[in-house]
Amino acid sequence: MAQVQLPVFHRGFGGTMRRDAWWIRPIVIVILLGSFLGYANWAAWQGDHYQFGNYLSPFYSPLLFGPDPFAWFGPRPAWFPAWISPALLILPFPGLFRVTCYYYRGAYYRSFWADPPSCAVGEPRKTYWGEKSFPLILQNIHRYFLYAALCFLLILLHDVWHALHFADPVTGVEHFGLGVGTLVLAVNVTLLTGYTLGCHSLRHIVGGHLDQLAGRPVRQAAYECASCLNRRHMYWAWMSLLSVAFSDIYVRMCSMGIWTDYRLF
Ligand code: FES
Repeated sequence: MAQVQLPVFHRGFGGTMRRDAWWIRPIVIVILLGSFLGYANWAAWQGDHYQFGNYLSPFYSPLLFGPDPFAWFGPRPAWFPAWISPALLILPFPGLFRVTCYYYRGAYYRSFWADPPSCAVGEPRKTYWGEKSFPLILQNIHRYFLYAALCFLLILLHDVWHALHFADPVTGVEHFGLGVGTLVLAVNVTLLTGYTLGCHSLRHIVGGHLDQLAGRPVRQAAYECASCLNRRHMYWAWMSLLSVAFSDIYVRMCSMGIWTDYRLF
């Protein structure tokens, strides 16, 4: 077969023959991810206004120590350092699940490290280590954070169940109801479910290690479901990221008395 030798051009950082606005996407990602990281850090260190009635901010769920009715182990023990907010105890799990996600890896490698900033655009380094050596080989831990993320989904679902029960202000008796906050938390857990169940690692867990899926209807159905969600993984990733932040803002604003939570029934 005839072979054609094509010349390889080494362009400097940002050099390209592309004529489209390739730089818009990395800039938007830096703004969105940077804003989220800034807000999430601020909210996690606050240790306040994370609960409003029967609503709990997803940044603080599960609440290990704190006020009733959400705390798993009762009030904060006296020996526990006051500067550690309850969110700091649990956020590393969903946080590292996102940081090691296949989609986000591609997004922040390009946007924050410019490695490369976009396809066919010159990058600032000449060597490529890939993810086979330290420290990026640690990204392979993603599948283990997936197990934690699945547990967090169940906990957040339970929070939505909690958000469907409102205590009577006089008698304290709980009644089934629906508030705007309930809907906010329900949409959030729905988007998080779409993001988590479309994970590449989950797809491999349910459909991998087999030569063929035919004759295994349960695994085939699970694989097709995961694949279907996986096709839009980027959208689920962004929508769920924004909804987590908005859920915290909603609970915080209601708790501070700035927003009113309207009851639908
Ligand atoms: S690959 Fe994105 S959550 Fe697993």
